[in-house]
Amino acid sequence: MLTIFPEMFTPLQESIIKRAQEAELIQIKLVDFRDYALSKHKNVDDVPYGGGAGMVLKPEPIYRAVKDLGISNGKRKIVLLTPQGEVFNQKKAIEFANYDELVFLCGHYEGFDERIRVLADEEISVGDYVLTGGELASMVIIDAVARLVPGVLGKESSAEQDSHRQGLLEYPQYTRPPEYEGLEVPEILLSGHHARIMAWRRKESLRRTFLRRPDLFQSIEFEKEDYPLLEEIALEHPEIAEHRERWEHLKPLIKRRSKKRNISTDNTLE
Ligand code: ADE
Repeated sequence: MLTIFPEMFTPLQESIIKRAQEAELIQIKLVDFRDYALSKHKNVDDVPYGGGAGMVLKPEPIYRAVKDLGISNGKRKIVLLTPQGEVFNQKKAIEFANYDELVFLCGHYEGFDERIRVLADEEISVGDYVLTGGELASMVIIDAVARLVPGVLGKESSAEQDSHRQGLLEYPQYTRPPEYEGLEVPEILLSGHHARIMAWRRKESLRRTFLRRPDLFQSIEFEKEDYPLLEEIALEHPEIAEHRERWEHLKPLIKRRSKKRNISTDNTLE
């Protein structure tokens, strides 16, 4: 993390990310690029050429800090946090988890000298809103990426079922008691019938994605088993039927009962 506010990263000293570091599954290094400032007063920003409000991060300290990283021991990606970047999502988290080293350049104040962009392999935003700096944004990314590193989550399968992992939202979860404040756990979950529970979960994932995130629903690649589930959802939410052409082709072929073949006297098959 290249930042002028290393103290902002204390949340990474808690919970799962803390344990991941203790287990040496991940390592987080904080570099205060103010240490690389050239001036006596260690200035990292200056007024913008052409005038205007606010200050702009100077290129020299960040360039010098990046140079000082040296050669990577593995696959490295340098990420610049900016609201102008590509919006981060689960697919990006999976991609980033394949790197040995991620370097985050965290700007602060109003902006940074355009030449700083040259250092970055990628520019990433965590959403269409403006933060006071890249620190919180980079922590969001670290958290999402670190939990994909094998061993960081207790059971490796916990990340498999994630919302978004398969491009679908997660199904509703329940635990004991079976009834609370008049709210009951769906009976199927108490049935112990594994196959039916799996089908119920898939159906609820599809339903939730359709109702809450139509944008994600647009790009789901349906499976053969989804056909009856989608038809059931269509009975409950007729508006989904408009999308039927996307799953119609998965309709199972009706198997004809094979006729007993009678061999006639002339040996032709009837
Ligand atoms: N810095 C300021 N706002 C940001 C955002 N939305 N994403 C990433 N970095 C930022």
